[in-house]
Amino acid sequence: MGTDDFENPRENTGKSKDGPTEDGTPSSDSSERPESLSSSESEAADDSQSIEDDSQSIEDMLLEFDQQEGLIRDRSLLDPNHIVEEDRIVGRDSQLQEVTKMLRVALGDNRPPNLFLYGPSGTGKSLITKAVCKNISEICETRDIRFGTIEVNCQDLDTLGVAIYELANCAADEAQVEVEVPKHGVATKEKWDELYRIVNENFDSAVFVLDELDMLVGRRDKQEPAFSRLLYQLSRAGANNELTAHISVVAISNDTKMMESVGSRALSSFTPEDVHFDDYDANQLQSILRRRQDAFFENVLDEDVIPLAAAFAAQTHGDARKAIDLMRVAGELAEREGDDNVREVHVRQAQDKVEKNRVLEVVRGISTQKKLCLYATAAVAAETANEAARSTTGYRVYQFLTDAIDAEQYHQETYVNKMKEMTTYSLVDFERRSHGPSSGMFLEFQFGERPETILETLREDSRINVVSPGEVSSVVKAQIRDET
Ligand SMILES: Nc1ncnc2c1ncn2[C@@H]1O[C@H](COP(=O)(O)OP(=O)(O)O)[C@@H](O)[C@H]1O
Ligand SMILES: [Mg+2]
Repeated sequence: MGTDDFENPRENTGKSKDGPTEDGTPSSDSSERPESLSSSESEAADDSQSIEDDSQSIEDMLLEFDQQEGLIRDRSLLDPNHIVEEDRIVGRDSQLQEVTKMLRVALGDNRPPNLFLYGPSGTGKSLITKAVCKNISEICETRDIRFGTIEVNCQDLDTLGVAIYELANCAADEAQVEVEVPKHGVATKEKWDELYRIVNENFDSAVFVLDELDMLVGRRDKQEPAFSRLLYQLSRAGANNELTAHISVVAISNDTKMMESVGSRALSSFTPEDVHFDDYDANQLQSILRRRQDAFFENVLDEDVIPLAAAFAAQTHGDARKAIDLMRVAGELAEREGDDNVREVHVRQAQDKVEKNRVLEVVRGISTQKKLCLYATAAVAAETANEAARSTTGYRVYQFLTDAIDAEQYHQETYVNKMKEMTTYSLVDFERRSHGPSSGMFLEFQFGERPETILETLREDSRINVVSPGEVSSVVKAQIRDET
């Protein structure tokens, strides 16, 4: 399966990735072709004179290939983790202003307030935070303030201990020193102390960016989720001078309700200013893409490419990451086909691919039970005209599935809760409905992506795949017929 968009699409039970996280290092393959091309072209010309036959050097061939295929001029502009320059940021003026205003205090060597940035994925939360911190850092440098941005993405961090080590690691990186405790086999307290030491010795002020913080759930046996304990410790350390540097904590989450799960203990010390990021509409997405169209060589993009990519991305949930992904994948497809232009058809092909990858990304991390809930619900949606599924019908299909593979069967309420939890990933949405006064209330689930894509992806799980799609589909049809 072609997945150039992210690694490890398949099973992911033992997910522990030590490498750079999503927001870590930018990709290395950004091409600076035009410059290197011209300098080596002249060398190549000399070569061919001396050899005087038409066999090409490897370099020559590579360059020629490059020239034929190259539609993308600057790949970094299409890399979702690259921090673009300020003038390419569109439509987030108020958020930019607010975050800047809050964190500006760091410049005066004072303690900036804590922030909570929330909104759906791809709405610019990470970008805005990084852009502001980068600016602060540059100004601080000129003023001899030792400022550090200590940023972790919590998506791949399993436990609190791992998260603290990761913070220490980032702080050390930023300060260009070494972490002096081992990653494993030491008490969490020692990791905290090491983090404090690194920050206190190297920074006057620091911003902790805890990106996708809601993903840091930690061990189930703890009462309080790990992100809550992290917030508590960090903000308390700031208040009681374990951290002598002025620190501020920026918590970022796709889950608007995250703060509701933050314990009262943490809430008393972590009192953030909220900054909301809402969905982009198709016009905003178009502007975002237009500011990056120089990622391609001139006159390479057909006129309808940007509007179509923006429309597709707006349809699902106004996700700028998706819009940019669509442009990149469309460009890559056109290159691969040796086309001179990126055309509408490439965007349509890209839509299929990007959608599938997005589903893969979400699905790789969820439990078998959640997969079963999702599968049952998507199977229902796939058979209805409006691609929506009633919770009552979905639950019956879920019961059929769990029976068929002999898995534990949850009550309907738990099934509904599992489905509701999945709204966090913007994969599914729900509405409360009733069909007339005689029928009861139910939830109706709608999918952001095509239900078939979800089914296909989930079938890659061998447990789910033992039930034949045909069988599921006939059960679903029977259940839909029985709906009142
Ligand atoms: N307002 C914007 N202007 C330009 N690019 C944007 C904007 N918002 C998001 N992007 C781009 O969209 C992608 C996703 O944004 P990101 O900040 O990672 O979203 P989030 O953190 O909210 O999920 C990134 O490539 C980012 O550069
Ligand atoms: Mg982000």
